[in-house]
Amino acid sequence: INSVEKYKPKLHFAPKQHWLNDPNGLVYFEGEYHLFYQYHPNGSTWGPMHWGHAVSKDLIQWEELDIALYPDENGTIFSGSAIVDWHNSTGFFPEEPGIVAIFTHHLDKKDGSAPVQTQSLAYSRDKGRSWEKYKENPVLAHESKVDFRDPKVFWHHETNKWIMVLATGQTITFYSSANLIDWQFRSEFGEGKGSHAGVWECPDLFILKDENSSEEKWVLLVSIGDDVELEMGSRTQYFTGSFDGNTFITDQVSVKWLDYGKDNYAGVSFSDIPKEDGRRIYLGWMNNWRYANQIPTDGWRGQMTLPRELTLRTIDGESFVIQKFVKEVDSFLTEKIPLIEKIQKGSKKVVVSQGPIELDIKIERMESKLFAITVHHTKEQSTEITFDAVKNQIILDRKRSGAIDFSEMFAHEQLIDTKLTDSINLRLLLDSSSIELLVNEGAYSLTSLVYPDQICSELTISSPEGTIKVQGYLSSLKK
Ligand code: FRU
Repeated sequence: INSVEKYKPKLHFAPKQHWLNDPNGLVYFEGEYHLFYQYHPNGSTWGPMHWGHAVSKDLIQWEELDIALYPDENGTIFSGSAIVDWHNSTGFFPEEPGIVAIFTHHLDKKDGSAPVQTQSLAYSRDKGRSWEKYKENPVLAHESKVDFRDPKVFWHHETNKWIMVLATGQTITFYSSANLIDWQFRSEFGEGKGSHAGVWECPDLFILKDENSSEEKWVLLVSIGDDVELEMGSRTQYFTGSFDGNTFITDQVSVKWLDYGKDNYAGVSFSDIPKEDGRRIYLGWMNNWRYANQIPTDGWRGQMTLPRELTLRTIDGESFVIQKFVKEVDSFLTEKIPLIEKIQKGSKKVVVSQGPIELDIKIERMESKLFAITVHHTKEQSTEITFDAVKNQIILDRKRSGAIDFSEMFAHEQLIDTKLTDSINLRLLLDSSSIELLVNEGAYSLTSLVYPDQICSELTISSPEGTIKVQGYLSSLKK
């Protein structure tokens, strides 16, 4: 395998060639999931943005289609969303329903003044295969705001209106419309709320159900371009609360993070998932602006997280977003090797077959205060996940994981601060250049890129101080 291909994911979406960032326009229509994305077709670093396009029937196998949106006189094509206009509210679909993309036009000024960001529309009458820009773009502009982008649009039943959720500097602004063309300001959210460690980007707003009580709450996702306070770079926070079609009110006091790793950014959810399915499916860009342009892939750059199903869980009286890999992943991982071990002050080696691997285990830590899972990629390269019940941390260390020297920040440890319970559930998904760790049935997520020469050759589970009991299974990619 050459150095280009060894990093190409097998279960994650990545472009065949060139640069990709944010997922855009996630929408389900007539049996297909559409994934559009920020794309630079003339290079493998960020450049003039287009919307790349891929479709899938199962959320795992994607087929790349032609570029959907090209830059035009209003600017390049920044992030945005897509919806199905079922009742022809726009007038674009006299015959049958079709897809509308709502995106940001980003216009750089030749005279060196601040760029201009406006919101525009494009529509497709042939299941996303060809696109027509709306003749009177843009449909929404602002007189003074420079950061005015990443529209996420959804239909709000109670008020019978489209709602646009827009990133506007370090706030989120809500607009409403009957036809996606004429927009009215509703309210602005964010002052004094959450983290303001960087510019706010790529919002999303939707209802999630508590997995136990079935109680519903609105959840607002807000990505932060570069978190300079915690030295995390790009990161996503969320707010739980209520939304009445006009105003979002949060019920939370402290900052909540969607992910504890460095590599899950700008994630949003699919629109128009059929009622019978009912899931809220999310995916993010598995990268960080701090080093996105330097990651050591060649000819292609950027990939997405696995699609994840989001729900809510109440923990100590507070609502948290829960993430699980979509169930579609299971049918690609079939060989389930049971893993049952009692480790008494020592370690246990597990030899694995090549390919993407999933580990789904429960660890009972008995009297042990410290244990670890080491992913041996090769003899020299490994990633270490340590569980420390004294510090109350789960730490992922990728210092020895392979290529790391393209960015100083890449070697920093990534950690989840959490009180370690007596029994811990872990789901670990290893692909060619990523590790996705879900803890306690999706209560915590840590998403991390790694650049080893191979995925995994062996796993070591070690418990240097006391006894632990491990129970679960290991699976690998279906041949
Ligand atoms: C987030 C982002 C968006 C913008 C896009 C440009 O990663 O900065 O705010 O629309 O990327 O590619």
